[in-house]
Amino acid sequence: MSELVISNLSASVNDKEILKNVFLTVRGGEIHALMGPNGAGKSTLGYVLMGHPNYRITKGSIKLDGVELANKTPEERARAGLFLAFQNPVAVQGVKLSTFLRTAYNQLHPNEKIPIQQFYDNLKKHMQKVGLDESFISRSINDGFSGGERKRFEILQMVMLRPKMIVLDEIDSGLDVDALRMVAEEIRSFHNQDTGFLIITHYQRILKNIEPEFVHVLMDGTMAKEGGNDLSLKIEEEGYDWIRSG
Ligand SMILES: Nc1ncnc2c1ncn2[C@@H]1O[C@H](COP(=O)(O)OP(=O)(O)O)[C@@H](O)[C@H]1O
Ligand SMILES: [Mg+2]
Repeated sequence: MSELVISNLSASVNDKEILKNVFLTVRGGEIHALMGPNGAGKSTLGYVLMGHPNYRITKGSIKLDGVELANKTPEERARAGLFLAFQNPVAVQGVKLSTFLRTAYNQLHPNEKIPIQQFYDNLKKHMQKVGLDESFISRSINDGFSGGERKRFEILQMVMLRPKMIVLDEIDSGLDVDALRMVAEEIRSFHNQDTGFLIITHYQRILKNIEPEFVHVLMDGTMAKEGGNDLSLKIEEEGYDWIRSG
């Protein structure tokens, strides 16, 4: 059973403290939602988890299965099984989508040797599921992809790589209703396995189909409220102000 434990985490960017004493634990098989108003620090938490060089951890720890990640490079974190999909995925010139996925898969599962044909069959199956045409196989990563196609590719990576912990930052932004349903289905199809999810969103929209068991609300860089999925419904109806004033 994998476990991501964020403990007493504080972090700053440009010497400005954004995250303050954040605690959060996600176990394999659990779906957590991280909500909060604009500017609360949600994406910052994602970047800090990933090891973005602009963000400095000033206190606390991030452990995946007991291993401290805070001092590791983004590549080492990915190899440890942490996967993050961001609001604005970047293009990588000259790296073919299929090559990227195979290399990343082999790094993540060094003891599994999947025959190349089986890998491609699986890839094509999932490309169809996430709504990416087969021609994308030989295209450079995110190069000329539309916003929606980038999001679909993030989901494709997630299902193909089978990481231990998945953090999705605003995966619903720029997706239409059908794409949203697809994302929710792929997430739910992982749910019984050993993968843990942290779904970052400021809208309840995507959570409707996913129904996370745990909802955390970040405000001004601190956890302000935690509860079950009913909390996300209340936020949908009443916004965030009642948490701030209560
Ligand atoms: N590179 C940066 N330089 C200065 N301030 C930043 C930087 N990145 C984020 N911030 C600030 O950190 C706060 C949290 O931002 P962010 O994590 O993006 O919030 P959220 O994702 O919850 O909307 C905001 O006030 C934002 O302006
Ligand atoms: Mg954000």
